[in-house]
Amino acid sequence: MEHNIPELVAQLTLEEKAGLCSGADFWHTKAVERLGIPTLMVSDGPHGLRTQDPERDDPNHSRKAVCFPAGCSVAASFDPDLARREGAAIGREARAFGVGVVLGPAINIKRSPLCGRNFEYYSEDPVLAGELAAGYINGVQSQGVGTSIKHFAANSQEYRRMSASSDMTERTLREIYLPAFETAVKKSQPWTVMCSYNRVNDVFASESRMLLTDILRTEWNFKGFVMSDWGAVADRVKGVAAGLDLEMPGSGGVNDAKIVAAVKAGTLSEAALNKAVIRILNIVFRAADEAAAPAPELDLKGDHTIAAELAKECAVLLQNRGVLPLKKGSKVVYIGGFAKTPRYQGGGSSHINTIRVDSALEMAESHGRRVSYVEGFPADLDQREEEEFLRAVSAAAEADAAVIFAGLPESFESEGFDRSHMRLPESQNNLIARVAAVQKNTVVVLHTGSPVECPWANDVNAVLCMYLGGEGVGAAADALLWGDANPSGRLPETWPLRLEDTPCYLDFPGDGRHVEYREGVYVGYRWYDARKMPVLWPFGHGLSYTGFVYRNAQLTADEFAEGDSVRVRVSVKNVGMMPGKEVVQLYVADCTGTTGRPPKELRKFVKVKLEPGEEKQVEFTLTAQDLSYYDETLGSWYAAPGEYKILLGHSSRDIHATLSVRFSTPRRRPFVIDENTTIGELSKDDRTAAIIQQVLAQAGNALTGGNAGGSEIASSEAVAQMLDSMPLRGIVNFGGPAAAGMITPLLEILRAAIQ
Ligand code: BGC
Repeated sequence: MEHNIPELVAQLTLEEKAGLCSGADFWHTKAVERLGIPTLMVSDGPHGLRTQDPERDDPNHSRKAVCFPAGCSVAASFDPDLARREGAAIGREARAFGVGVVLGPAINIKRSPLCGRNFEYYSEDPVLAGELAAGYINGVQSQGVGTSIKHFAANSQEYRRMSASSDMTERTLREIYLPAFETAVKKSQPWTVMCSYNRVNDVFASESRMLLTDILRTEWNFKGFVMSDWGAVADRVKGVAAGLDLEMPGSGGVNDAKIVAAVKAGTLSEAALNKAVIRILNIVFRAADEAAAPAPELDLKGDHTIAAELAKECAVLLQNRGVLPLKKGSKVVYIGGFAKTPRYQGGGSSHINTIRVDSALEMAESHGRRVSYVEGFPADLDQREEEEFLRAVSAAAEADAAVIFAGLPESFESEGFDRSHMRLPESQNNLIARVAAVQKNTVVVLHTGSPVECPWANDVNAVLCMYLGGEGVGAAADALLWGDANPSGRLPETWPLRLEDTPCYLDFPGDGRHVEYREGVYVGYRWYDARKMPVLWPFGHGLSYTGFVYRNAQLTADEFAEGDSVRVRVSVKNVGMMPGKEVVQLYVADCTGTTGRPPKELRKFVKVKLEPGEEKQVEFTLTAQDLSYYDETLGSWYAAPGEYKILLGHSSRDIHATLSVRFSTPRRRPFVIDENTTIGELSKDDRTAAIIQQVLAQAGNALTGGNAGGSEIASSEAVAQMLDSMPLRGIVNFGGPAAAGMITPLLEILRAAIQ
């Protein structure tokens, strides 16, 4: 339907306009009946609906809905199409409930494994997070329901989340914390964006013109409206001016009155307010128009089946020394409270009121498997009960295999607080170690929203990580353990050996007012690779019951220039006996000598399904952007000319093919020449190299003055290095009065050469 929104806005009073910029209650925008402006209902998100029960007064009492795999699990699928399927199912439920906007996806970067909300977020890598977010958003929005991508931006911890300032360089912000949002906005235009609680470099996200207008709208062309996280508004008037359209849930009119007063006083332009109202109404009417079409029937049973199907593709087989898949007919004991009551979702605003949860135990029984059960430890506490502990150990000793269902109790990991350590409950670690000592076929199944230390990893045969797989997690675990499905998930984050190894160990979570992102762009595998550190399981890792071989990796050209692209092809073959899925990962390594670049960065990935014996060719297209970093001196993305390596493989530490490509560009970084510019810098630039070589030839040995020290050999290397880092003014320092007169004309010649 056509709506003349600017005309509607012209008919609104100033008070009505200010009122439209904040919620009517927790979950609705305001209606203006006299002008036919309807209300819009929003609902959490992200992995299922938390829609307030209309019969209840409590905003936290939600209707029954299906709990799909949480963000941590979806990310492990490495499959944007899976995220799309999840989104579409949630979108259908949203239509049935009358929800206009789903509050998700949540895509903040996993800076530390300790962040309490990591279970909701996707990855430590912005490319992976962005592609999955775009898939999810396209899925939800295909149903005529909007999304709210959150929390924009740099909200990677819960500690003092409403006030702490995430302090970082522009490069870090641009390369790590913004690109997932950028990809999602460009590929899927979410109807709304939710700004985060925190400050970024001292400015509240809810007041940041740079984030909400300059970057989001001007650079990325975002068309929808921005809402605040619940209670994220500090100075409402500044927020409107910066581009924050809707305040949620509202301030009982206090902030609306401030907007009115500011417009009257001339400190806020009415045009800025009108813009916010127009943006909100565009979406309000869009949602109303979509809702006019008949809603799909609510099919919670059907969606439960979808949730279980998706969960199978999200689990990661971390280790398998041969016990998995379990042999049908063998005698297996299931140990651990999670076998009966799996942990399948996290706590906080994403908590779903589910209709039914599958447990692995119940699924094994329904399939007639030879499984017995001993609790061993409870799922909700760190508690050791001696008799139960010993019962579990002896049952394990008598069985053909023992499967321990372990994980983090909900009280260990939730929105609102960060973890203080990375350990599983002691009672679980102890029992796993004891069982592994008596049973060589011990399998650990993990239910956790983020990495945990696994001190027993070398002692057990297999480890299967289910993450928080949603309400179908038990059915998925059953199918994967017994070989009815083949694991195909990959780690969306590094599993470090210990907390002390993590990139921001010394700077997380900061002093409460500020948290310094000192590790810069070295987040996740970028850090572990640069430090050449051993990890427990690397980013991108995940095993299968079949095997894959990579062949014929090739580039369509050995070199390409700015503005062009190059294609990369590789064939992958399933050389095992079971159908399976391989995730082909493409990383780029800068070999141009540019300093401060991580050893490799994920740029592309694709998940391919292969029957036994089947081979498929995959193809990726690379452009200059894929080679680039954010150069602060240029204020833009930049790839230096020279050589880049293209790494293709199964994980960040299991590369099967390496190709080399040369890149050329007419763009240059600004080169400022002054007395402190070094001879090395001048020798590297093709415009100044010859000039400086001539000066060196004239100056002879005077410049190094015999300070290179030591033996003949040492001195030839040392001389080269000393000269390399010698500033131009050294020519005067070492060359004496004769050289002093040279410096000004030399600077002029050099500067002219780079014009
Ligand atoms: C969370 C958001 C959520 C909102 C509404 C906030 O506390 O940070 O992610 O959408 O509450 O429940």
